[in-house]
Amino acid sequence: MTAVGRIVGIDLGTTFSAIATVMPTGKPVVLSNREGERLTPSVVLFEGAQSVLVGSMAKRSAVTAPLDVVEFVKRQMGNPDWKFETSTGEQYGAEAISAMILTRLKEDAELVLGAGQVTDAVITVPAFFDDARRRATRDAGTIAGLNVLRVLNEPTAAALAYGFVNHGDQTVLVFDLGGGTFDVTVLRIAGSDFDVIGTDGLHELGGFEWDNRLMEWLNDQFRQAGGPDLSEPFESAADLRDKAELAKHVLSQATTARVVLSGGGVTKSIIITREVFEGITADLLNQSRDLMISLVEEMGLAFSDIDNILLVGGSTRMPMVPRMVADISGRQPLQVDNVDELVALGAAIQADLLGPDGPMLDGPAPRISDVTSQGLGVIALNDQRIPCNTIVVARNSKIPSQGAEIFGTADDGQTAIRVHVTQGDDEDPGYVRLVTKGRYPDGGQPLAIPPYDAGAPIQVVLHYDIDQTIQVEVIDLTAGASLGTFEVDNVANLTDEELAEAIRKNKELGVG
Ligand SMILES: Nc1ncnc2c1ncn2[C@@H]1O[C@H](COP(=O)(O)OP(=O)(O)OP(=O)(O)O)[C@@H](O)[C@H]1O
Ligand SMILES: [Mg+2]
Repeated sequence: MTAVGRIVGIDLGTTFSAIATVMPTGKPVVLSNREGERLTPSVVLFEGAQSVLVGSMAKRSAVTAPLDVVEFVKRQMGNPDWKFETSTGEQYGAEAISAMILTRLKEDAELVLGAGQVTDAVITVPAFFDDARRRATRDAGTIAGLNVLRVLNEPTAAALAYGFVNHGDQTVLVFDLGGGTFDVTVLRIAGSDFDVIGTDGLHELGGFEWDNRLMEWLNDQFRQAGGPDLSEPFESAADLRDKAELAKHVLSQATTARVVLSGGGVTKSIIITREVFEGITADLLNQSRDLMISLVEEMGLAFSDIDNILLVGGSTRMPMVPRMVADISGRQPLQVDNVDELVALGAAIQADLLGPDGPMLDGPAPRISDVTSQGLGVIALNDQRIPCNTIVVARNSKIPSQGAEIFGTADDGQTAIRVHVTQGDDEDPGYVRLVTKGRYPDGGQPLAIPPYDAGAPIQVVLHYDIDQTIQVEVIDLTAGASLGTFEVDNVANLTDEELAEAIRKNKELGVG
């Protein structure tokens, strides 16, 4: 038998990442990085073409070397049009940069666990991530030299970590507000069964948005005091972001924070109260509130049916969050100290369950059942020959899941069809994401058929696997023959050649 490495769980966050493992004692623990921190800033500093710095040192360099520092890269996962260009002209995609963060986490974990020991990982993603973003995350792990066992939903991971120490049957709502994303998930815990019943989220709602509001407000105050606009150039904007985030943290403890800004020969000390901060960010909080309410309603539940509300993510430390949740639900939410570690701990638990040597976990092995976060559909012409998106697998279906729909061919004698698979929940093709290649109507998966009369039945079977990646089968019902089964070759993702090249480059790179 080949030697197996240590299996880890990784929370690859927008602002902070963490790595955890189940120790031989059966307990999941977060592993400290080389700086001795339990959270590693998801920030990369490029130093020429061959070397990068990841973590706190890179974050601190954002002000002095803003053109070579990249932050919030998780926001760009699954976006093939985004590239970061360093001051020396090198270009990197979101997968390659995320891989640098993962490489750093892996190497730091190996300082604790032993060199070359970390081989397999479960990496978490926001529940609302679509296929392209999930694949991009998996690819980032592959580039970093990890065997990615599973891509796990962050709120599900958090619930696993919570349920590991808080036994008892219960319905739990996980409210996860991190640095860049918001997820809300409802699940039932019964014994060691974790059964997710519904999930929803916004991938552009997190601490970053709160920081932006505070930056704008501070900049306005500074300009009213005769100072220059600090939102440009990069250096002063990075400094403003730093100070805004720090002030936000202060306002979680104290009711006022003082921020000193300088530029253009003007220095000004500005005081912001928690009340003002809550006022300028109220609409952001309301977005999370409305989504939480609508998910509970969609599940056919009332807040009285929910036994516990678990707050996860660093942004739930802002007092406005537990207060709002308590107001809406009528119960005090649970606020554990390690809100930003639960996801990594849960990922470690899931990783342990998937390990080749069987679980080391202390206690009964949890059974996890999750749901799809987005509907899966096909674009077809309706009776008026207008393209419509037909949902084939509904959102919040148990995964793995499968759905099938029968469509008719459009024209007499047509000898090819194109299958356009979508992700999203709207009938209008303009509001969903195309996951098959090209644009409608020219792209899609081209398949040859015999020349039938119009209306010949073609069945499309869509399948979500446990990682929520998509598989498609198309069946010609006239001939009773499958036209093919294919994994959606997501246009937003790396090709095999690009992936191989990224692996090669990452190996050559010094990650410090
Ligand atoms: N005491 C605090 N008060 C207010 N905000 C805080 C506090 N501590 C952390 N945060 C904020 O929490 C966010 C980071 O949280 P977390 O580490 O959970 O996010 P993440 O995992 O990086 O992001 P995501 O899960 O969205 O990808 C940052 O925006 C940070 O400013
Ligand atoms: Mg997170």
